[in-house]
This record gives sequence, structure tokens and C-alpha cells, in this order.
Amino acid sequence: MINIQENIDIKELTTFKVPALCHYFTEVYTPEELNEAISFAKNKKLQLLFLGGGSNILFTDAFRGLIIKLNLKGIKESVEDEEHVIVSAQAGEEWNSFVQYCIVRGYGGLENLSLIPGNVGTSPMQNIGAYGVEMKDTFYSLQALNIKTQEIETFTPALCKFGYRESFFKNEGKDQYVILEVKFKLTRKNHKLTASYGAIQEKLNEKNIIRPTLKDISDAVVQIRKSKLPDPEILGNAGSFFKNPILPLDKFQQLQKIFPTIPHYRLPDRQIKIPAGWLIEHAGWKGKKTGDAGVHEKQALVLVNYGKATGKEIFQLSEIIIQDVDKIFNIQLQREVNIII
Ligand code: EPU
Repeated sequence: MINIQENIDIKELTTFKVPALCHYFTEVYTPEELNEAISFAKNKKLQLLFLGGGSNILFTDAFRGLIIKLNLKGIKESVEDEEHVIVSAQAGEEWNSFVQYCIVRGYGGLENLSLIPGNVGTSPMQNIGAYGVEMKDTFYSLQALNIKTQEIETFTPALCKFGYRESFFKNEGKDQYVILEVKFKLTRKNHKLTASYGAIQEKLNEKNIIRPTLKDISDAVVQIRKSKLPDPEILGNAGSFFKNPILPLDKFQQLQKIFPTIPHYRLPDRQIKIPAGWLIEHAGWKGKKTGDAGVHEKQALVLVNYGKATGKEIFQLSEIIIQDVDKIFNIQLQREVNIII
């Protein structure tokens, strides 16, 4: 039996820690409970919202529908072949605990994604990524509940349509599915380590590590993240607030003439990715505050709640940043965080 609570403040359920009233709220631990909660919302014609770790969402107002917090737990493994294992985790498993579970067992592929806040079930939504690796690189398949039919469907990588911080579930499939379980294909030996990202290599050099283990890479990533990114337990935030913009080569070259020091990464198909953090910093916003809504002092891509900021205030700050970056660089930043209006 599910327990539906009414009119609760969900401030502690998101990493931004902004106050927001929620009309109906429940937590589910099994697919059966999830179906029960969905049926409750359908009967009452309520808007539905599914919450995992709450690490990529900003509420700008009260939510009048039903929020379902997904607490499905469990990890299973099956040996695929001599070199690979398939590890499957339920949506409510905490992402970093799952990554560490794999590292302890010697399963390779997720170590660069250490310490990313959130749950396993939301990792495919925006194809989480860090330090040269994306979730899609080891993704095998997932199971999701179709909200309309209330049947479980299996998604292969192709069906998920992963892109840079993008997937089917953020686009055509938006609000139609709840991810229940995600499977990863990880290596048991001959791991393909990605240590090419500058900061990782620096950390390894500092420690004189020549042949890094999975744990060495994970430890390096944890150290880098801790030195740059604010801990949501201490300072409310949702990681990168914006996506790094991708420009066609010719537009980038024009920009480079005016701003010769602009950092950039070449992508296939004459596309160039630019760090939004650099643009925001050079628009003068790094470390700035309006009330309790601010731009992090060590990483301008991260907006933070210094204590009493509301979702609206953080959203308004993001609007001004978008306008300023547009004025100076003629680049329109896109938000990465889900805004709930
Ligand atoms: N930079 C600045 N000023 C800043 C921040 C960054 O100039 O305030 C420039 C620097 O040139 C720096 C470059 O941006 O070298 C890249 O910065 P960083 O390595 O911190 O990475 P990012 O591009 O800002 C992305 C992801 C992060 C991920 C890191 C590491 C996006 C939107 N963000 O940030 O992801 O951890 O790379 O791989 O792609 C997240 O999604 O929540 C997140 C934290």
C-alpha cells in the first residue's frame, strides 16, 4: 500500500534545496507500488512528476500534481563473456554508490563518472558524462514503464537516442516513461581507461601513478570534482546549470578572431564545443550573487543557492546570464537542469 502525503515542502528532496510546496507526494519501492501511484494520479487527473535523486531539477513554484519518488533498489550481475559482465541496477540506487560497487568488484567503465550526484534511473535521461566518458559508452539496455499503457518496455541503445546530455527520454519520450532498471556492459579485464582528460593525468602524475587502476582513476575524479564543484549537502546546486554550446566551425572562427583565448574542443562534422563556464566567467558573472542566488566562485557553470534563494530567483539569475552571454558572444545558452514551472 502506498502512502500519499498532502501539501508537503519538498525542499530537502532536491539538491538545489529551494522550498516548493507539493500537493501530493509518495515514495514507491516496487513496480507494483509505482503502478498504484500512477493509477491514483490518473483517477484524480493529476499531473505526474517522477523524482530520483533530485539532482538536476529546479522547482520555480508550487507543484499541484503528484510527485512520485522512485526508491526501487537492487543490483544484479551476470557474466557476459570472459571479458565482460552485465551489471543491472534498479532506478533508485544512488549513482556513486553503484559506481563504487562496480570498482570494488573490478568492473571497468564507470570510474570517470564517480561522484556524479543523482540516481541510476535518471542517468540515461541526460546521458550523464564527465572527464571524457559518457554513460552511453557502457550502456547496455534499460527497462521503463510506459505511463499510458502501464506496461514495461525494453530500450536498446539505439532506441534511447543518446547525445551530448540528451536522450529520447528528454525529447520525444518526455513524460511518457519511467525508467525502472538500467543495465551496463562493463569490463572484467583489459579495461579501457580514459585518463586523457588533462586534470586526471595531472592528479596521477602528482601521485607518481604510471599504471592506474580503476580505483586510481576514480580517486582522481573524486578529488577533481571536490576541488571544483560545490557539495550539494553544503551549498545547494544541481551541477552544470547550462550545456556547453556547440557551434559550427565558421561561426566559431569568427568568434575566435574577437576572443583569441576562447577554449574549444573539436567534435566530428566541423562542430566546436565551447565551455559555457568560460563564457559566463568572461561575461563577468563568476562568483557573483543576487540575493542568495549565485554563480559558483570556482566553476561559473554551476548556479548555487547560498541559503534562502527561491527557485524563481535562481531561474531569474539564469535568464540574466543567458541575456548577457548572448549580448557579448551572440551565443544562446541552453539550460541543462529541468525547470519545473
Ligand atoms: N572554464 C572557465 N571558467 C569557469 C569554468 C570553466 O574558464 O568558471 C573553462 C576552462 O577553460 C576549463 C574549461 O572551461 O578548462 C572546462 O571546464 P571543466 O573541466 O570544469 O568542464 P566543463 O566543460 O565546465 C563539463 C560538464 C561537467 C563535467 C566536466 C568534466 C557539461 C555541461 N558539464 O563541464 O558536468 O563534470 O565537464 O568532464 O558538459 C554536470 O553535468 O553537472 C557536470 C558537472
